[in-house]
Amino acid sequence: DWSMAEFRKTKIQEIREQVGDGKVICGLSGGVDSAVAAVLIHEAIGEQLTCVFVDHGLMRMNEAEQVVTLFRDHYNIPLVHVDAEEEFLGGLAGVTDPEKKRKFIGKAFIDLFEAEAKAIGGADFLAQGTLYPDVIESVSFTGGPSVTIKSHHNVGGLPERMNMKLVEPLRELFKDEVRDLGRELGLPEIFVGRHPFPGPGLAIRIPGEVTKERCDILRKADAIYLEEIRNAGLYDAIWQAFAVLLPVKTVGVMGDGRTYDSVCGLRAVTSTDGMTADVYPFDSAFLSRVATRIINEVQGINRVVYDYTSKPPGTIEWE
Ligand code: XMP
Repeated sequence: DWSMAEFRKTKIQEIREQVGDGKVICGLSGGVDSAVAAVLIHEAIGEQLTCVFVDHGLMRMNEAEQVVTLFRDHYNIPLVHVDAEEEFLGGLAGVTDPEKKRKFIGKAFIDLFEAEAKAIGGADFLAQGTLYPDVIESVSFTGGPSVTIKSHHNVGGLPERMNMKLVEPLRELFKDEVRDLGRELGLPEIFVGRHPFPGPGLAIRIPGEVTKERCDILRKADAIYLEEIRNAGLYDAIWQAFAVLLPVKTVGVMGDGRTYDSVCGLRAVTSTDGMTADVYPFDSAFLSRVATRIINEVQGINRVVYDYTSKPPGTIEWE
């Protein structure tokens, strides 16, 4: 792609000019935006960049390994991998309120990230994968209603506290352009085309208390659902698809025994920017196949339901 090759060259030059011989730190979320920003900045300034991946243990199946492999093996970019599953799950114990979950995760994330930044002797710049829609959203929200629907998860406040300037090379791009740039930079397709995933991770897909056991159950159900979506060739037609694990047990029958296990909800939506969304209309054979597989293969789930709510009035995530 000619325009992306050109963009890549221009940005690399700009990053070099902005950063000089300063140090840059970049937090990876596991998502496309931060990965593309990090790879681009590394191409520009090499070892002046430190990438930090705070792994909260709330990622999907194999997701954390994919990030580590991409950076260490595929690109040979040094990566600080902070395994913080215990801290996050410990802090989430007993927490059921969605906003409390989000606030705790956001704060713990910043604290851990700040500790890593200090450990490398501080940095002059913080790199972020901010996109054009993020820039517009924060502008238009200043004049909008003062109701917080959900506290979004980012490292706001940290640059001032640590006296860092921002490096945001993707600020002019839309999501599909970031994907093109990712391809231009050689990111694997499985990474580039991936559905968006929220910063607080599986914690906001487990209404009620989040435990390691419930995360493991959800990861299995979610992986089956996504595998079936990929096998059916539907992955790219969907903006986001995921499973949620409900804090409700219902009675079922399996073989000649009674079961009393959790309900799994399935969600899939189409959207262009996440601000509004429509339900993806799977055919019933597809949904039956997924439900059967989840109930047969995932211990702890004995009922599967499909979420038929558009946005608005629903949100895409359940919390
Ligand atoms: P909702 O649930 O508000 O989500 O309809 C809209 C889009 O935003 C994603 N999302 C988040 N992304 N940090 C993020 O980076 C967050 O805290 C967060 N919460 C929701 C959600 O997955 C959907 O794509």
